Amino acid sequence: MALDEGFDWAALQAEATEAMRHAYAPYSHYKVGAAALVDDGRHVSGCNVENAAYGVALCAECGLVSELHRSGGGRLTHFVCVGGDGEVIMPCGRCRQLLSENGGASLLLMTVSGVKRMDEVLPDAFGPDDLA
Ligand code: THU
Repeated sequence: MALDEGFDWAALQAEATEAMRHAYAPYSHYKVGAAALVDDGRHVSGCNVENAAYGVALCAECGLVSELHRSGGGRLTHFVCVGGDGEVIMPCGRCRQLLSENGGASLLLMTVSGVKRMDEVLPDAFGPDDLA
């Protein structure tokens, strides 16, 4: 059985696509949007924001995680990110680490190969427990 069959992934993908439309990507021209559900029912989203100093670019996931904390914290339960055509893309390596910290092993992600758990997308993650 597919993971979390009843969840409305299409609606979350539409939220990510709406966020993507706000992206500031004048250098790569690669717009990204991300959206997630929080364990208290809130929805958070983000878009990538680039910079003339290229390496300073903020991924869409950075904005999403910032909004998570700004709006009250909690744990991410469902996540998707999209590119400029609204197609599902994979979070980059650094952002997998951000998502792992804020959703944990059981966070569900819509990926290019279907719904996966965070611990499939970032196996054996370094995390808060390693610092205990
Ligand atoms: N980007 C994201 O926003 N999230 C990712 O997970 C992958 C990459 C952005 C960063 C940069 O603005 C553009 O996509 C091209 O790398």
